[in-house]
Amino acid sequence: MNKNKFYVTTPIYYATAKPHLGSLYSTLLADVSARWNRLQGKKVFFLTGTDEHGQKIAQAAQKAGLEPKLFVDSFIEPYRRIWKQYHLDYTYFIRTTDPEHIKAVQTWLLDLQKKGEIYKSNYEGWYCTPCETFLTDKDFKAEGSQAPICPSCGRSTSFVSEESYFFKLSKYQDRLLEFFKKNPNFVVPKERLNEVVNFVESGLKDLCISRTTVQWGIKFPDDEQHVAYVWADALLNYVTAIGYLNDTKKTDFELWWPADLQVMGKDILRFHAIYWPAFLMASDLPMPKQLLVHGWIKINQQKMSKSFGNVVDPELLYNAYGADAVRYYLVSQMAITQDAEFSLEALERHISTDLANDLGNLLNRMVTLSIKNGLLETPIISNWSADSENLKLESLAMIKEYSDYMDKCHYHMALSTLWKFISKVNGYFHAQEPWKIKDKEKFTEVISATTHSLKTIGILLWPVMPTKTMELLDSIGIEEIIGGNRIEKLLDEGWNSKFVLKQFPPLFQKIDPQVSAESVLGQIKKEPEITVPETKNIDITDFAKVELVVGTIEECETVQKSDKLLKLQVNFGDKGKRQILSGVRKSFAPEDLIGRQAIFVYNLAPRSMMGLESHGMMLSAVNAEGKLEIIKPEHPVINGTQLK
Ligand code: MSP
Repeated sequence: MNKNKFYVTTPIYYATAKPHLGSLYSTLLADVSARWNRLQGKKVFFLTGTDEHGQKIAQAAQKAGLEPKLFVDSFIEPYRRIWKQYHLDYTYFIRTTDPEHIKAVQTWLLDLQKKGEIYKSNYEGWYCTPCETFLTDKDFKAEGSQAPICPSCGRSTSFVSEESYFFKLSKYQDRLLEFFKKNPNFVVPKERLNEVVNFVESGLKDLCISRTTVQWGIKFPDDEQHVAYVWADALLNYVTAIGYLNDTKKTDFELWWPADLQVMGKDILRFHAIYWPAFLMASDLPMPKQLLVHGWIKINQQKMSKSFGNVVDPELLYNAYGADAVRYYLVSQMAITQDAEFSLEALERHISTDLANDLGNLLNRMVTLSIKNGLLETPIISNWSADSENLKLESLAMIKEYSDYMDKCHYHMALSTLWKFISKVNGYFHAQEPWKIKDKEKFTEVISATTHSLKTIGILLWPVMPTKTMELLDSIGIEEIIGGNRIEKLLDEGWNSKFVLKQFPPLFQKIDPQVSAESVLGQIKKEPEITVPETKNIDITDFAKVELVVGTIEECETVQKSDKLLKLQVNFGDKGKRQILSGVRKSFAPEDLIGRQAIFVYNLAPRSMMGLESHGMMLSAVNAEGKLEIIKPEHPVINGTQLK
């Protein structure tokens, strides 16, 4: 196994909106782990992307009046743009609508079928569309005929009854429990594994992995009525992105799989800790090494989520505070073990104290003082004072403690350790009072000890703040930090560097809480996530003005030079026949419509289109696939019947 590689993944985000701060947070944790491993000289593959199939997407697209593919396409640029603003340096962005992914999922489904891992049966039960989850018996108490509430999102579910393929999940119950027992560190934080073990111990039922009542998804190759259940499709992204079942990418796949770290929120742990490992077992693939499961960012005690309408736009924060400050705030203030309230006031306070004061000021004061005293380059120091030696020892101990936390993905603890050290360096600098030192050698030694400390801080902090730390390092003459194992080097090389000092503008500005938080908060509050068009009520007399009449389309032909229009001859029974033009040519051929009944607005004023008269309008609606459906009576009625 290649120990010098690191493969990290994020969940793939539902492409129903631009990313919010919660989506950013998962991706940020993955980026921090990717950078931490790069810093140690590892070759890194960092995967992120979007989840683009299924009922949730189809419904959202329908609501937006767009075809699902056009709908999901519209969010890709915002994802890429915001990930770039925040320096989320992914290697590959997968979309589940990518042809390569679709092909691999279909091959996988066929393989499972051949191996007898899936079978066809009927599914009846409750489904939560926002979570794309089939509720299990354990998820709710049966209370009469009422639809149960989804335990994950708290919303109402709907009853589903359809033919489905089932994956033999129950068969993996013992193997999963065995795996959890042998790998107690599979889930970080450890405690979350207990929830998973309890769930599996209480019995696993086979998992429904196809839908026939949803069309927007990956079709089963030999049974096109069925589309893959969106979670089966989505989970596979972690392997299809690196070449699984793609003959031309076999070596890539062998290099990268298994994943070293898979990041996700606690809401989707069950999918990743039970279904995903079982899929892998059924496919004879090794397990991912570790799942990093974080809590939620909350607003007023409620999970930040598009559907709750309480999302914070990362772009607003980026424009107001810059990427690194927001990165620092999220990583340092959110313990991965817990949920945390998002607070602009806290963000600003930490920028002012931790970043501008503790870190930025230290660098600025040291460089300014040194340059003022004509010391532009510090030499190698051979005799350190006891205080400096002490600081050096503190620094070495801190590097070890910090690394240990970073390796365990306890990033907030790592930062707290680092900030204790920053405070010690500040303490050292103050206590030495270099602005009073007349002895040049002594002065140089204090500046050098402070600079060595800042170098360590800059390198260690790079995974969290990749641009500000490079500015910091640049101002002490370090331009490059990637190459070899930088952490080992920090531990081994001791304090024997020379530094070239350069004055730069302050790393961070203090923020006046009165001025800033309020203006940014104002924008956040003012920007509603979804704008629902206002509905204007009409009264019954207005409605009575519209004559909706049933007719049969007897003839239908295309209209020359129009790629939209079809010309219909419609029989309205006693009311006679009429020519009606309809803009449905992209969805229907003339022969699709001939002989069908439909509903028409009968008293619409005649209109002329492409030189032809139209005496009415056919009613249609966009379905979940983005295609048009002609509206017709459920059973045939006499032509000319008016709707009431
Ligand atoms: N599409 C599925 C994941 C499929 S992975 C094979 C999905 N998408 S999601 O867009 O709803 O959420 C993805 C992830 O975003 C969550 O697991 C979590 O990591 C992150 N977050 C979404 N809202 C969040 C918060 N309010 N706080 C922290 N993270 C949040 O589930």
